[in-house]
Amino acid sequence: MILLGVNIDHCATLRQARYRESGRTTGGNVEPDPVTLAVLAERAGADGITVHLREDHRHIQERDVWRLREAIATRLNLEMACTPAMTEFALKLKPDSVCLVPENRKEITTEGGLDVVGNEDRVRAVVEAMRAAGIVTSLFISPDEPQIELSARLGSPWIELHTGAYAEACHSPRRPAELERLRRGAALAHQLGLVVNAGHGINYVNIAEIRTLPHLHELNIGHSIISRALFTGVEEAVREMKTRMNVGK
Ligand code: PXP
Repeated sequence: MILLGVNIDHCATLRQARYRESGRTTGGNVEPDPVTLAVLAERAGADGITVHLREDHRHIQERDVWRLREAIATRLNLEMACTPAMTEFALKLKPDSVCLVPENRKEITTEGGLDVVGNEDRVRAVVEAMRAAGIVTSLFISPDEPQIELSARLGSPWIELHTGAYAEACHSPRRPAELERLRRGAALAHQLGLVVNAGHGINYVNIAEIRTLPHLHELNIGHSIISRALFTGVEEAVREMKTRMNVGK
């Protein structure tokens, strides 16, 4: 079974579009509530809940993360920038896992993943701090050999392969090559002892190919599930994705 982490950031995007100025995240007329969405997603079979607490607080707010920590029954995966401030926050929050993601241009590879190679010391510091606190670290990287090999050497137990380049190539002749890159990346990561997750741009159509990647542990999916939930409700949207992820399993 491939596990499903539901990324609920865009529920908060919708709330902030109307209520940012009020400074409120709950109560009164404030909606939609990402924590309620998370609980419904779990009820429908989500194996974990993912949020990205961005330093610009564009969607998820700190208060959301603390409420989630209390409310959910599965695993909380905190996506965060590789900074001392976010590390301090994560050590207080104690999520089940953190996924290090790039937030500024300097930290980003050409493919959009975290440039572990170019930020080795910063990444190592966070991986070690998390390990000491019993928090699993995942690194959101492009499916490139140097990034994968260094992730393994730094002792991050998990990686999340960036599927964005593949997703963007959906109507292009590059698609098979992008899928093959992901396939090779997943195989190499597994061979090096890494747990292989993947995410970004996965939807109800491309999941048919993504699910064929070897050694997949978990997929983190946000935008497509939140979008579908507008029409079908959250529980149906999550159930449908989980079914498509695991056809025949
Ligand atoms: N994984 C990571 C590391 C992300 O930052 C995101 C959000 O961009 C996702 C997965 C989910 O991507 P999407 O919303 O396109 O499904």
